[in-house]
Amino acid sequence: MSARRTVLLTGASGVVGRSVLCENARDGEGPRVIAASHSAPVPEATGPTVRCDMTADRFGLDADSYAALAGEVDVVIHSAGLTEWGLPAERYEPINIEGTRRVIDFARQAGATVHFMSTAFVAALAETAPVELCADNVCRNYIRSKQRAEQLLRDSGVPHTVFRPTNLIGDSSTGWTSQGQIVQLMSDWLGRGRAPFIPAHPGIRMDFVPQDLLSRAVLGAIELGDDQGEFWVTYGPEAMDIETCLELLVKHAAERGRTLSLPPVVNADELDPDAIASTAPMTRSYLSVLRDVSEVTRCSGGVLPTSMPELRERYGIRHVDDTAAYLTSLEYAAAHLG
Ligand SMILES: NC(=O)c1ccc[n+]([C@@H]2O[C@H](COP(=O)([O-])OP(=O)(O)OC[C@H]3O[C@@H](n4cnc5c(N)ncnc54)[C@H](OP(=O)(O)O)[C@@H]3O)[C@@H](O)[C@H]2O)c1
Repeated sequence: MSARRTVLLTGASGVVGRSVLCENARDGEGPRVIAASHSAPVPEATGPTVRCDMTADRFGLDADSYAALAGEVDVVIHSAGLTEWGLPAERYEPINIEGTRRVIDFARQAGATVHFMSTAFVAALAETAPVELCADNVCRNYIRSKQRAEQLLRDSGVPHTVFRPTNLIGDSSTGWTSQGQIVQLMSDWLGRGRAPFIPAHPGIRMDFVPQDLLSRAVLGAIELGDDQGEFWVTYGPEAMDIETCLELLVKHAAERGRTLSLPPVVNADELDPDAIASTAPMTRSYLSVLRDVSEVTRCSGGVLPTSMPELRERYGIRHVDDTAAYLTSLEYAAAHLG
């Protein structure tokens, strides 16, 4: 595309937002990005910033500032959201659902395209899901809120794409991430030999994607002027199996001078209900999350849907080996996030 675009990036201080800013700066010829900050700083912002609260009308801006912003923006990357799991459904409503509604109103006024950061976990709530996700799954309310936000976009008529990343890990080359991600936290815990067993559904894939692959794909969509499409930012059938993941944890521990003896992998479907409940609070919480995330993958058919081949083809996303990226991410986390 010839005209340089102006992008409003919501959630600029988040893991995805900061990665997008980083990748865009690397490029040099990318779009002009207005970083929408909220409560945290945005160290990677090299251009304008604007303070936005997605839970407030007009993002909390006065009418003139809002109109001026709409006048200059032609693309929105909507990455702001409440990403913590395990909260009551109503906690996600103001930001993940109503916030998206406000982004849609803004995009309509601006004549802008929206690139929405959803989650690959919506596959677990799809009508085609082979098994129903448990009502008390820790991710359920979060996933539902993203699913509803996607629906709002579909119903809006506003030109948009939906990116559905799986759990992200650090940058594929350096392992950098601005905050420890659930995969890194869980891996660190497992790597210290703290798990008495690992609850997992048979055959599920451990699907983690380096954050820069998502950022490059979104920037690619902007560069090509794409205004439709749904992209699963996952490895799908290429993703490692649980045995490979555990071997990498053993390797990582060995490189740090530790001998890790692996706990047994227990079929989560056949687990005695008390097996997790009877463990110490911290262990219970980690094991429950492991079981619930495994259940999300199981309800998505064991292997998450993927658009990786299309992302490589269309946006020139590099082929990155997920096992190498995982190890790099573990090394970064051990050195910088401990
Ligand atoms: N990271 C992943 O592994 C992953 C995987 C799948 C999907 N996603 C999706 O990708 C998006 C970005 O994820 P992330 O990892 O970057 O999340 P994150 O690190 O938790 O960041 C969330 C962002 O949302 C902003 N925010 C929260 N409340 C806000 C409000 N009321 N008004 C304006 N901004 C607000 C935060 O700003 P402050 O911190 O300044 O308050 C922060 O910049 C999310 O929508 C998430 O669902 C992420």
